[in-house]
Amino acid sequence: MSNTSDYEYGVQKEEHQGALEETLNLSFGISDYQAWRSSAGDELLRTVYRQGQFHGCVLPVPMGQWFGGRSVPMIGAAAVAVAIEHRGRGAASFLMRRFVHEMHGEGWPISTLHPASWGLYRRAGYEPAGSFFRYTIPMARLPLQPREPAFRPFHADDQKALEAAYTQAVHHRNGFLDRSPVMWKRACSSHLGPFNGFVLPGPDGLQAFVFFKALPGNSGEWNLELSCYGAVDGESSRRLLSFLAQQQTQLQNVKFYGGPQEPMLETLDFRYFQAKLNENWMVRLIHLPKAMASRGWPLGLQADLHFQVEDDLIQENNGAFRLQISGGEGRWIAGGEGRIQVSVPDMAPLYTSFHSATSLAQQGRLQAPPEDLARLDAAFAGPAPGMAEEF
Ligand SMILES: CC(C)(COP(=O)(O)OP(=O)(O)OC[C@H]1O[C@@H](n2cnc3c(N)ncnc32)[C@H](O)[C@@H]1OP(=O)(O)O)[C@@H](O)C(=O)NCCC(=O)NCCS
Repeated sequence: MSNTSDYEYGVQKEEHQGALEETLNLSFGISDYQAWRSSAGDELLRTVYRQGQFHGCVLPVPMGQWFGGRSVPMIGAAAVAVAIEHRGRGAASFLMRRFVHEMHGEGWPISTLHPASWGLYRRAGYEPAGSFFRYTIPMARLPLQPREPAFRPFHADDQKALEAAYTQAVHHRNGFLDRSPVMWKRACSSHLGPFNGFVLPGPDGLQAFVFFKALPGNSGEWNLELSCYGAVDGESSRRLLSFLAQQQTQLQNVKFYGGPQEPMLETLDFRYFQAKLNENWMVRLIHLPKAMASRGWPLGLQADLHFQVEDDLIQENNGAFRLQISGGEGRWIAGGEGRIQVSVPDMAPLYTSFHSATSLAQQGRLQAPPEDLARLDAAFAGPAPGMAEEF
């Protein structure tokens, strides 16, 4: 990395607009900046510049992420880009470190992103902490039965019921997004236009929902691409798949993103689907007291865990702390014996249930006596973290 001491960090400025739009276009093919902003949200981009000249940017995307059954406020980091002529000199590393610092000041518990490179984000304390799978099911294999109950088209006034059904379907699944209005807009459409929405009404709200569009695949075939789907129980999942099967005379595959386990698929009688690991998303624990207080913990578990933590970026995160868990609540307070030694970046895969404490210890990323390892494993146990969309 070259000398970064004269980089500056700020919010986007009028005089940088031309260079910023050109960088987004060259980096991500964003040719219509205004259209992109209307789908990406209206947060100000954060920028890195030097001697008044724009070098790069990142877009904060506020939302939530489910951990331990609760929605943890999460600041997403999207559209990280550096102008081509300024790459390879530490601009993005500087930008991400300052971004994390600013978000700590704002009190965000965690930050999550979809990385193009692990090395870059590791410099700001992010670590791989969950997975993002791409599923493909051959249409012809989907069961046509049952044909009832009936789905109907989604209407705008179903939005509240849709959000309630989605929450019911995913709130216990670590890593799934608690969507903001911006993320909801993106979940129900794409840059290719709105998707077709259908819902399965039930006595107490929606039982299932799906948004899809038929799109051409790479080999001339047509596939059904899902942007948002879910069901509140196994029966509704089966019905969702049989509803999609109604399009099997014309379409080759159903394609969608999801976590490492998709309960909907386990309602099938066959195993003829493909699951491809698209990537591992990364998490940075930013504000430890808020991160520990806002996630859910196993009810009935009582623990007093003594940490010694290090963070090369956020001064306040360093030192001895106790994580006290009781009645499903967690508290992170200063003091204690520091028996569990770990860096704040290495706590991210523990927090999300991506790695157990025992596994982290085996990799040399955490040190603790065996009794503490067992307690940590119990406290952070959860379903393997996944996500069904990009941002
Ligand atoms: C990725 C990108 C933002 C990096 O910006 P940068 O200012 O050149 O990054 P830095 O100089 O701070 O590099 C830090 C680290 O990032 C990683 N990195 C940077 N460029 C990379 C590349 N082209 N391929 C893979 N890793 C890369 C390396 O680990 C690097 O550390 P190293 O120099 O010790 O190897 C820039 O290449 C870019 O804008 N690319 C196009 C858009 C994009 O992919 N954005 C990321 C979306 S998640």
